[in-house]
Amino acid sequence: MPAKKKAAVKKAIVSIIMGSDSDLPVMQGAADMMTEFGIPFELTIVSAHRTPDRLMKFSSTAAARGIKVIIAGAGGAAHLPGMVASVTTLPVIGVPIKSSNSIDGWDSVLSILQMPNGIPVATVALNGAKNAGILATSILSTSSKTIEKKLINYKEKMKTEVISKAITLKGKGYLNQFD
Ligand code: RP5
Repeated sequence: MPAKKKAAVKKAIVSIIMGSDSDLPVMQGAADMMTEFGIPFELTIVSAHRTPDRLMKFSSTAAARGIKVIIAGAGGAAHLPGMVASVTTLPVIGVPIKSSNSIDGWDSVLSILQMPNGIPVATVALNGAKNAGILATSILSTSSKTIEKKLINYKEKMKTEVISKAITLKGKGYLNQFD
């Protein structure tokens, strides 16, 4: 009997990184979108402050490993996305996280958002990992018709859901003179 072939593991084209495993409950939102759109991704911890050497190695080798977009989440003094963006030419999407060491979340947002000229980070909303996943998919869709089609279907599905909710509200007796 020939040995059963192992299913080939697809090479990741999106890398999801975060400062700590305590960020995972939020960052799972990005991973879920990758799964929904069928985009091969990797996910790991890279800490700007606790593992600076790992950050440098990760950032300087990501493009050569075939990664196309990096999603980086961190909280508090959230330097991870900006530092990664300073090393790589890949697009970096930053996810500010309201974490245990955040004052109120604004610290995370501003640490990621207020980058100096020359080193952009595409910053999503506080805890907005799901949108980071969708934005990464949009970036990939510019060079893949298959991914573009998935995004079109996703948006169509959302539209249908909203219309159906509007019909439900009308059915409950709320005045709607629009449609
Ligand atoms: C940041 O510090 C991490 O991204 C995380 O949001 C926060 C807290 O990390 P832990 O102390 O929970 O490991 O660097």
